[in-house]
Order: sequence, then structure tokens, then C-alpha cells
Amino acid sequence: MAIYYGGDYNPEQWPEDVWREDVELMRRAGVNLATVGVFSWARIQRGEGEFDYAWLDRVLDLLHEGGIAVDLATGTASPPPWATARYPGILPRTREGATLWPGSRQHYAPSSPDYRRLASELVHATVRRYQDHPAVVMWHINNELGCHVTYDYSDGAAVAFRSWLRDRYRTIDALNDAWGTMFWSQRYTEFDEIVPPRLTPTSVNPAGLLDFRRFSSDMLLELLRMEKQIIRSYGATQPITTNMMGAFPPVDYWSFAPELDVISDDSYPDPRDPGSFRPAAFARDLMRSLKPGTPWILMEQAANQVNWRPNNARKAPGQMAALSMQAVGRGADGIMFFQWRQSSRGSEKFHSAMLPHAGPETRTFREVSELGAALKSLGTLPPAGRSKVAIVLSWDCQWALDQANHPARFDYLSQVRGWHAAFHALNIPADLINAEISGADAPGGDGYDLIVAPSLYLMRDATPLVRFVEEGGCLFTTAFTDVVDECDRFLPGGFTRRLGPVLGLAVTDFEGVQGTEAAVSWGFPGEHLREVLTLDGAQVEATFSDGEPALTRHAYGAGEAWHLATLAGEAGRTALAAHLAARLGLEPVVAGLPPGVEACRRGDMITIINHNPSPVEAGGEVLGPYEYRVRN
Ligand code: GAL
Repeated sequence: MAIYYGGDYNPEQWPEDVWREDVELMRRAGVNLATVGVFSWARIQRGEGEFDYAWLDRVLDLLHEGGIAVDLATGTASPPPWATARYPGILPRTREGATLWPGSRQHYAPSSPDYRRLASELVHATVRRYQDHPAVVMWHINNELGCHVTYDYSDGAAVAFRSWLRDRYRTIDALNDAWGTMFWSQRYTEFDEIVPPRLTPTSVNPAGLLDFRRFSSDMLLELLRMEKQIIRSYGATQPITTNMMGAFPPVDYWSFAPELDVISDDSYPDPRDPGSFRPAAFARDLMRSLKPGTPWILMEQAANQVNWRPNNARKAPGQMAALSMQAVGRGADGIMFFQWRQSSRGSEKFHSAMLPHAGPETRTFREVSELGAALKSLGTLPPAGRSKVAIVLSWDCQWALDQANHPARFDYLSQVRGWHAAFHALNIPADLINAEISGADAPGGDGYDLIVAPSLYLMRDATPLVRFVEEGGCLFTTAFTDVVDECDRFLPGGFTRRLGPVLGLAVTDFEGVQGTEAAVSWGFPGEHLREVLTLDGAQVEATFSDGEPALTRHAYGAGEAWHLATLAGEAGRTALAAHLAARLGLEPVVAGLPPGVEACRRGDMITIINHNPSPVEAGGEVLGPYEYRVRN
């Protein structure tokens, strides 16, 4: 498949005479796909049952005549004012009880029956009209589901939460047991007493909060499924996507992935942060990993500066192309932007676009056009294969760990990102995995040599990881792994009840640490947490300064399992990743590259990118600032 190139196109913001110029300039820039209608609801519908598609007919026809395909949005992200005025129950509420009013965007409660009904009517009407339009090659559901309003605490949400809990637990006794409500006199006598975790005097029940986060993610999943079903009910065959936001904490994207034919990501690395290409690489690798073998598109990025940081730097010359080629090198089949033409009014008028307000005679438009030509010259790209390293990412862990009352507070996602970064800095490719999938998609079945599971605190099912080690894989875990069950409860008999035999140890206690309190004899500090271990077969590789085990290794089945009894910072992760890579013979894509130079492999295609603002010597040649090379 040739690579898609283009951006969000919002023609409703412009008079019709501008549309022709848009198509002409799109062609000049090498655009072949436009995402249309993301925020067009108010333009399409003036009132309940009153649809006006005549303008959109003309837009789609014009694009089609110009040879530009359309990723047609369902437009459900921002209900028009008439809808919220008539049905105020659509509006979400914050934890404090404040209403989120219309006047910006995405002000809908995901569980609101009125929102769902009106959104469904819109999707029905749009799909009915355009399912056979020759321009439409993809359907784009909603926009960044969960963005701005991640949690809704309204009365409507309370009703939906209770119904979700009834489905999950069947009886109130089962819920009381799961949540441990004998503690602090929280016992419920019926489901109707339950409210979302609104403002409370002190920390709220942790299992209840965890379930509320699961429920909230599930409400967005229901919206995705609702729209997908409508699209498919008309027999529309185009692939379906929705734009995600990297490892967005509130939404479990492992649950979204099976619903999608194309995975899409929105990504806005800060051009001023010299290290921001690394978390960007993490997001690219996550998108490639969410549904292996499925195309993924970088659906939104900025051609130049954004307008929503307190201070917004421009991208340096070449930086936009460097970050785009990073996505291509890491498997992307499309490079898109928010947005095509810079708005002249409204909240995003200072956000860059492919076509700046100052017109095509600008550096931005020149760079956009150069990239369009460069992507075209790549032709059909090879599929991205699997890596040898996998890093576990669990939304359940994120939701259970981002809570009060633990031995220490730390950010789970930055641990996962940090481990990815350690391998990325070595130019060793890594995938992200959901460690609890069993069967054909189990991690062991993918031929990984190494699985790193940072703080896998909450586990439902350890079988896939146990089997992975038994069959010869290397598992590396860090402190706070295998601590609780699915409902955030300790298991009887201590900690590490499921992975203990594989790790050759038991964790018997935890403490929070600061400064050098958890210094590890390999020469790096442990951070946040330290565990007390009782060894049962594991060998000590490194100790804390009091001689207690800090890092262990245990041969199990045909493989081995390592455990770090603290959390590693950047220095520790770098040292450990290098050690594991050498031990397991994991090869970098290109060896010996200087700092800030990235190499990506995609089939036979190798992309080398200089993310430095200065020239470097890499692989026997000089790369200018933000310059890249593609080798086949
Ligand atoms: C995204 C959003 C776009 C646009 C962009 C600006 O979150 O989907 O519509 O607002 O941010 O960076």
C-alpha cells in the first residue's frame, strides 16, 4: 500500500471559493487523503432531524475530482448547542460536581442516552449518504475518545456505573467482597447506593476507583462499538479507525484495538524538548503493537508549532520531516496533520497547519510539500515485523497504581516509557505487549527473547508469562510486581504468589525509599521503593548497601527470570538494558550510532534519523541537523 499523506480538512470554516484552492494546493503538496467532518456536526444538523449534506456532497465531489481520498469522520465529538440546550443531561460533571458547559468541544457524557441517540442518528444519516461515495476510503469514528472529558461523575453516569457493576458482580455481596467494603464501614446493601467516586473526605475505596476507571474506559469502548455497528449495518466495507493518543492513561487501548481495521495516533512532541523524539518513538511502537499486522497511521501531528502549551516553539527546519520519518520507519502507513489550512478564527487559529495563514510561500508549506514528494518516492513499504524485545503495558496496573496509600507514589507509565527508552537509546527495537493474553496471541508465541514487565502490580493471569519462561524466554520484572489480584486484593499467603516460583523468590515486605537509600551495587540508585526478598533458588546478581538482595536471576524451565527489588531510574535502566542485550545477543538496528541518532528497521528498509540540532557522523556519513536517510 502506498503511504497516505494529508490532514484534517475543515471546509465548513471557509467559503466555497476557498475549497478549489485547497484541492489545488493539496495536490501541490502531495496530499492524497483528507480527514473530513471531524467537527462538522453543527454544520450538518441545524436541529433534531434536520440534516444538510448538500455542502458536504460538494466537498467530497471536489476532493474526488482532485484525486484526493477521504477519511470521513462521523463527527460525533462535539454536540451542537441545540442538542445540549434541549437535552442538558448530555453535559458531563466533574468530580466536584461542576457541569462542563458547551462553548468549547467534547462536552458530552459518554453514557448519556440522549447523547448516544443523537450521535447514532448522525452516524446513520452520514453513512447512509456516503457509504458508496467513491472518495470515501475510511471511516473515522468520533475524535480522540476521552480527550478533555475522561471521567464523568454526573447522575447519569451513576446510573450507568451501577448497571455496569450489576453486570460484573451480579450480587451486591459479590461487589462487597471484591471491594473489601467491611473496611471503613463501606458495606452496601444495594447497587442503588453506589455513586461514582466523587469528592470524598479522604481516599476513596481503591477497588471501587479501579472499577470506575474500567467503567469509564468501557463507556468509550461502547461508543466506538455503537458507531462501528451502525457503519457496518449499511454494509459499508471501508476500514474503520479512530484517533488515539499514545498511551492515553484513561482508555485501555488493548480493548479498542480488536474493533479497529486501522490504528491511528495523534502525536505532538514538544519541538523545544531535545529528548521528545524518544516518547514519540514509544507511541509509534505502541501503535504498531496494538494490533500486530494491522496498518497504522500517524493521524495528527503539527506541521509547525501548537497553541496549547504555555509557550509554543516552532519546529526547527527538518524537524517535522524527521519525526514523520520516525513514524514511517516504525511502521506507519500514513502521515497526517492537524490540520490542512490554518484557521482564521476560533481557539486554534495560532495552531500551525500544512497550509499556513501566510500562504504557500512559507517554510512550513515548502517542508510539507517536500515531505509529500519524499513519501511518494518511497512507494509501497514493507510490513513492520516483530521485535525481539517486548515491554508489558497494562492499563489495569496504571489505574490501580495511580492511587493513594501505597508504600510510595510513582508514575507507572513513566516506568514503562523509561524501559522502552533504554532499549530505544541502544537502537534495539521493542514492542509493547499485553502480558495477559493467552492462546495464539500469547507473548511466548511471538518469538520474543526478552519480556520486561515493570511493576506488574495487578495480575489477572500469570500463565502466559510463566509459559514464556518455561519455553526458554527471559523475563525481567521490577519491584511491585504480582502484588494484588484483579480486584486490588492481596492473595492469601504473601506476595508474588504466582510469579514467585518463576522468579525463585518471595517478596515479604515493601518500603518507600529516598535519595541513596536503595543504592544498587551495580552502581545505580534504586528509586521510590525497595522490597524485602526471601530467596528460594534465585541467585543474587546485585545487592543493596546493607548486603540484602537487590537484583536476582533464576533459571526456570528452559528460560530464566530476573527481578529488580526496586525501581531503576534512567541510569539503572540503561545499565540493565545493555547487560540484558549483551547476555541475550540482542542486536541494534545499526551499531555505534552517536546519541540522538535513531535507526528503525521496517522489513529491509532501514531509516537513520539525526534528531540533533547539529550535524553528526553516523554509519560512515555525515547527517545534517534533523536529516534522515532511508536505506534498502
Ligand atoms: C488534537 C485534536 C485536534 C486538534 C489538535 C491540536 O487533540 O484532535 O482536533 O485540536 O489536538 O493540537
